[in-house]
Amino acid sequence: MKVAIFASGTGTNFEALADNKTLKKAGLDIKLLVCDQPNAKVIAKAEERNVPVFVNKLSNYADRHEYEQVIVDKLAPMDLDYILLAGYMKVITNTLLSKYPGRIINIHPSKLPKYSGLDAIERAFEAHESETAVTIHYIDDGVDTGPIIAQESVPILDDDTLATLEARVHQKEHQMYPAVVLDLLKK
Ligand code: GRF
Repeated sequence: MKVAIFASGTGTNFEALADNKTLKKAGLDIKLLVCDQPNAKVIAKAEERNVPVFVNKLSNYADRHEYEQVIVDKLAPMDLDYILLAGYMKVITNTLLSKYPGRIINIHPSKLPKYSGLDAIERAFEAHESETAVTIHYIDDGVDTGPIIAQESVPILDDDTLATLEARVHQKEHQMYPAVVLDLLKK
């Protein structure tokens, strides 16, 4: 199964996918990291693992369509099965979506439809929720609104700080994303 991973930041989910031996054995082939932030830590993580990197900045283009069209052209010869978003901080528009219908997947750190958008863990914490979740879903033309593939709860404990909660959510992400991709591989 050929995939590209899109990420903008630290890349711990990228690592969890790239370092998962079961996924590798099952045939996961990460063809490319697409990154919109030239200083993102995820870039070094890809390079260390010999995954090619494509850095593409929105500010270099007149609009989002041009920006995404360049990505579409870059990906076209790779014959990808899926695009996996892993902390990619851009909304996907129809330029990409129309080329990969039902084949772009995102991970979001909340119990969607609650807390879609930015700072989801922090907002659940500040709202004194008793739990939050990790959700993996297909991308559609909304923000964090596409059909849910998997959702697992994460408790918010009385003595949690934002940092301890974030760590628990990320731990759940790093288990769930490889497991969901493995399921797709077996289909
Ligand atoms: C994760 O919390 C993911 O759910 C969200 O962005 C974060 C990315 O973290 N979409 P990392 O860059 O994978 O460490």
